[in-house]
Amino acid sequence: MENFCSKWSVTVIFLIILLTSIHFIYTQLFTYLSINFDNIKLKKSPPLPLRFNSDGTFKILQVADMHFGQGLITKCKGVSPSEFKYCSDLNTTKFVQRLIEVEKPDFLAFTGDNIFGSSTPDAAESLFKAFKPAMESRLPWAAVLGNHDQESTMNREELMSLISLMDYSVSQVNPSSGHQETDLLTGIDGFGNYNISVHGPYGSLLANLSVLNLLFLDSGDRAIAEGRRTYGWIRESQLNWLKGFSQTEQDEHGECNHCRSSPSSSLSRVTPLALGFFHIPIPEIRQLYYQKVIGHIGESIACSSVNSGVLKSLVSMKNVKGVFIGHDHNNDCCGNLDGIWFCYGGGSGYHGYGRVGWDRRARVVQVELSKRDNSWIGLEKIGTWKRLDDKLLSKIDEQVLWDQNS
Ligand SMILES: *[C@@H]1O[C@H](CO)[C@@H](O)[C@H](O)[C@H]1NC(C)=O
Ligand SMILES: *[C@@H]1O[C@H](CO)[C@@H](O)[C@H](O)[C@H]1NC(C)=O
Ligand SMILES: *[C@@H]1O[C@H](CO)[C@@H](O)[C@H](O)[C@H]1NC(C)=O
Repeated sequence: MENFCSKWSVTVIFLIILLTSIHFIYTQLFTYLSINFDNIKLKKSPPLPLRFNSDGTFKILQVADMHFGQGLITKCKGVSPSEFKYCSDLNTTKFVQRLIEVEKPDFLAFTGDNIFGSSTPDAAESLFKAFKPAMESRLPWAAVLGNHDQESTMNREELMSLISLMDYSVSQVNPSSGHQETDLLTGIDGFGNYNISVHGPYGSLLANLSVLNLLFLDSGDRAIAEGRRTYGWIRESQLNWLKGFSQTEQDEHGECNHCRSSPSSSLSRVTPLALGFFHIPIPEIRQLYYQKVIGHIGESIACSSVNSGVLKSLVSMKNVKGVFIGHDHNNDCCGNLDGIWFCYGGGSGYHGYGRVGWDRRARVVQVELSKRDNSWIGLEKIGTWKRLDDKLLSKIDEQVLWDQNS
């Protein structure tokens, strides 16, 4: 009997231990294998489509060449020896934050060399730091790549994918394949070719119409042409994408060049205007050496040796009024080529080369709607200016790029 009892209690203890272990292993495995929904962070997206404000304006802040490295430990270039000690990537962050605070833009456009690949061992971390002011502002923003972004741990496709997934980013890797244009979209060169349309204000006659298209293009990094090393260029497939769309636009709108003066019943025939954004200048920009420009040409224009016909294509689209580029940090001018304004952003990044005594800077582009009988009926004006990273964030070189009345 005694023997039976002790055997019995041993069995009970054994069972308890066994069940506890199974429970322990089960709960451990369960937490390990299951998805904790509290920890999943969904991308935050801005309301789409983008829209003009109820006062008829849409303001874009162009930030060129942030050249971000690792943050505090990444030192500035092109500053005086006395400034060097207390100057890092964080000065670039501060500048972008101040620009957003003062200008209160509706949209941010980053035109490449957002990060300086060779100055960071972790491209993703550098991207998150570089775009931190954009994400924190909760404003819609978009970026294209320059020639330095991919010089770290991510290639251009990976960079654009990550950028497209960041909070409030409306960037895309490449055009989302629509309907009949599908054949045009397969095999487009580069990463970061996309079109973002801006509609008229809520509740206005233009509310359901795209009145402004923002066209982003990948101008590549480096390439070899005729056996010589040169910068990248916008390829035929990318131009076909642009022109393919502009063709359908013309088909839809017919002979619509003058319909802005037509009665408001035919508002659906408003021709949207377009602005382009990419990094590397096109060869024709060198004509600006011999032209009157607004702003400075402080260094030689570094473009590709290949002319792929970008200017010709943009001119043929008829509705492109401004193109905003970066790459040459010490150039910040606007000049007109065949009716289209080409404007440099000017270098914004402290870890990018620059010139002592020449403030880091950024460009603002403001588009305004025109009003008739108390309703917004089309586009009126496109203007631009720059802001310097000085004490007052000085506003300089304000000019009109396009005016429907001239
Ligand atoms: C960089 O930021 C620091 C800290 O705000 C400031 O003291 C310094 O003047 C800035 N340097 C430049 C060149 O703007
Ligand atoms: C725009 O579309 C919305 C939703 O379909 C509709 O309620 C509104 O009347 C439209 N506005 C105009 C001006 O067509
Ligand atoms: C951009 O998108 C708008 C709105 O969908 C469209 O009307 C236009 O044709 C597109 N343009 C280009 C060049 O893709």
